[in-house]
Amino acid sequence: ADTTLVDDLKARLRDVPDFPKPGIVFKDITPVLADPRLFGRVVNAMSAPFRGQHISKVVGVEARGFLLGAPLALALGAGFVPARKPGKLPYRSVVERYSLEYGADGLEMHEDALAPGERVLVVDDVLATGGTAEAAARLVKRLGGELVGFSFLIHLGFLDGGRRLAPTPVTSLLTF
Ligand code: PRP
Repeated sequence: ADTTLVDDLKARLRDVPDFPKPGIVFKDITPVLADPRLFGRVVNAMSAPFRGQHISKVVGVEARGFLLGAPLALALGAGFVPARKPGKLPYRSVVERYSLEYGADGLEMHEDALAPGERVLVVDDVLATGGTAEAAARLVKRLGGELVGFSFLIHLGFLDGGRRLAPTPVTSLLTF
């Protein structure tokens, strides 16, 4: 196991106060992504619990879920599917609406993004209220996918998003 990963991550994540709105402390992952060794360790650790689970698609949530989800997909030998904010995908799409820590939004996936029964992992940088991940899960199920789990870099535990995603397995590298 990568025993120093948590400490190394804590040292490199940047807290940005009052972004994107007053009162919110934003966890900036760009210093982690910029370090190739640390980025690689993150991808390894986020994918490890799902190795051998026959994941065939990783769904990454716009926007930072793309940055982590695409390398996780390759690490797991799976394909990558983007879940995007409304109006961004070119082909016929399905939408799920959700409310956010700071606002309301929706997520879309292409209607043919999953084959029925495909085993799916949903990936994002942060689990906060869980509204976004829950919308991604609803999309996966609507398209006939089998949701195997969620993998996050950061879990903001005080917001209780984990409970909302139960009983689907949720893993994260760091909890605040
Ligand atoms: C952030 C984060 C998650 C979501 C978590 O995305 O990347 O996707 O919020 O919040 P929740 O658990 O309360 O739903 P954001 O809305 O900032 O979008 P972006 O990645 O496109 O900037």
